[in-house]
Amino acid sequence: MIGKICVFGLGHAGLPTSLSFAELGWTVVGVDYDSEKVKFIESGKSPFYEPEVDVLLQKHLANGRFVATSEAAEAVASADVVVICVGTPQLPDGGADLSFLRSATATIARHMTGYTLVVQKSTVPPGTASSVVAPILEECVPQRVQYDLAVNPEFLREGSAVYDCLHPDRLVFGVDSQRAKEVFMELYGPLLDGDQRVPSEQVGIVVTNWATAELIKQASNAFLATKISFINMLADMCDASGANVLDLARGLGSDPRINHHYLNAGLGFGGQCLPKDLRGLAAYGKGVGVDVNILESVDVVNTSRVDRILDRVVSLLGGVEERTIAIWGVAFKPGTDDVAEAPSLNLIPKLVDLGAVVRVYDPEALGAFQEASQLSDTGVYACETGLQAAEDADVLLILTDWYEFIHFDLSLLKTAMKSPVVIDGRNCMNALEMERHGFMYSGFGLPPVGI
Ligand code: UGA
Repeated sequence: MIGKICVFGLGHAGLPTSLSFAELGWTVVGVDYDSEKVKFIESGKSPFYEPEVDVLLQKHLANGRFVATSEAAEAVASADVVVICVGTPQLPDGGADLSFLRSATATIARHMTGYTLVVQKSTVPPGTASSVVAPILEECVPQRVQYDLAVNPEFLREGSAVYDCLHPDRLVFGVDSQRAKEVFMELYGPLLDGDQRVPSEQVGIVVTNWATAELIKQASNAFLATKISFINMLADMCDASGANVLDLARGLGSDPRINHHYLNAGLGFGGQCLPKDLRGLAAYGKGVGVDVNILESVDVVNTSRVDRILDRVVSLLGGVEERTIAIWGVAFKPGTDDVAEAPSLNLIPKLVDLGAVVRVYDPEALGAFQEASQLSDTGVYACETGLQAAEDADVLLILTDWYEFIHFDLSLLKTAMKSPVVIDGRNCMNALEMERHGFMYSGFGLPPVGI
């Protein structure tokens, strides 16, 4: 019987995961070595923007089902399940830096007192559980203490992390014992078939070995990345041929074997996961002698997207020197304040180098952008509203498809801009509406309106 769950690492994956376990009725203690972050969380605030997290945090701090601490010893000693959610950042060669995983595992191992299921949720290359985590546990867990190691990847998306945790399309359990499988079924039991829960027949439950569970995670993200680069390559062909990538995606996606998801063309993928996992899988494959050309090409197509929009703006304006360029959106996608591998980080310095004046607005991510780009005092101006960013602009570039941009008052926008030119890096605006309002509108893979 599970009494308490301990989650190690309270970042974008760990905090929503902890709170979702609390929502399922478990008592959860979240551990993070960063005591400032822990204090912030204890005050009922999420250290990052993520819908629903603040609400659940306040609810479960109040009812005692969730506590945060930086003291690992007691948290681990009292837990029956310890979930490792620490970061595995990308190394320069594309591989994963496992140092946080190693040190978290050693800490957990030393403080375990009774039977514990140690769950590796962090995203890692296949073989990590057996070659890195298991040996540390063998060496450091006190002899009388029984335990199992299991791999349980997460598939949550930033911006809908809590929803995804509570409505999974699959649960992957990498186990090497019957007991580990039983503990998993108990852990996720409240999610399946309970009140307002997901019917178990709608959830793919995959029970497999450790390496397969690890590979399912990296391969899922690499596959999504492949779909995006594939449609972006086709968007370029649409631009050359006059075809329409939106209709193309509808045509392709109507085949259930292909489906509609991840076929939105534009500036490509960013974030902490798709680029890292794509490169991580490529680095692993190369290391074991597998031809990973497919994965490398997906990365090349993606990183070249920023040059596409740069070429477009330079050719539309005939150069950008001393031109005012409005940017809407710096987050890597809507619903988050995360700018990891966002096109904005790559594009804006290039515009500044070419002598442009850049006016930037994002509903949530300006602070993170300023921190990551260190571009203040260099011709980049942070604006408080989308309208302010657009004032006197020669062109507006949309880099993130936030809802408020899609529903912006186009008459107001047109009045604010010096010239009504919009380049839509996410194909998120309605081309016909843009034209009706008198904009010169340019997306990716979109023929001129009316064709
Ligand atoms: C991704 C996966 O979708 C999750 O399943 C996974 O759990 C997570 O990584 C992780 O490994 O933790 P996330 O990084 O939040 O989630 O981002 P996505 O929503 O997948 O979007 C990634 C990027 O692709 C964004 O920049 C988005 O704008 C772009 N994208 C997405 C497109 O360019 N076109 C599309 O059709 C879809």
